[in-house]
Amino acid sequence: MASMKRLLFVCLGNICRSPAAHAIMEKGVKDRGLDHRFFIDSAGTSGWHQGKLPDSRMRAHGLKRGFELTSLSRPFVPEDFEKFDHIYCMDRSNLQNVLALTRDETQKSKVRLMCEYAKNFPDEEVPDPYHGSDDGFKYVFDLLEEACEELLKELTSEGPSSK
Ligand code: 4NP
Repeated sequence: MASMKRLLFVCLGNICRSPAAHAIMEKGVKDRGLDHRFFIDSAGTSGWHQGKLPDSRMRAHGLKRGFELTSLSRPFVPEDFEKFDHIYCMDRSNLQNVLALTRDETQKSKVRLMCEYAKNFPDEEVPDPYHGSDDGFKYVFDLLEEACEELLKELTSEGPSSK
């Protein structure tokens, strides 16, 4: 029997991008009957919104697509390197901040950029929608839905598929 995989999604505030990835991935594994094989969480490199639900604009866009964003914001902590097998960062700044906390190569090898999996999108980072228009939230969902689909394929052993 395959072992449990523990995935952590990371952005800056943990109220927009990473909670969306968290909810999309949770639904993806549940819809495939794989929820017993995955533990999924999200965190922010800042603690600015600690304890808060995701941004209401993100939650509203999620609901339109059938995703319920119910996680509460929490900061990334160094213990997360032990608790998770894979850590997916939304942008390069998040990646740098997480990598700065690594203590060895094993920890470093767990950290990736989410856009590696969004093969049909030109973006190398998931754009931060917080200060932008409604379209930005929609775009983040489009991008993350595709990236999560690819990620799930890779994690369920259908072969590496990152771009
Ligand atoms: P997130 O978006 O990193 O995707 O959660 C942001 C949320 C809040 C802020 C910036 C980005 N902020 O400046 O408070």
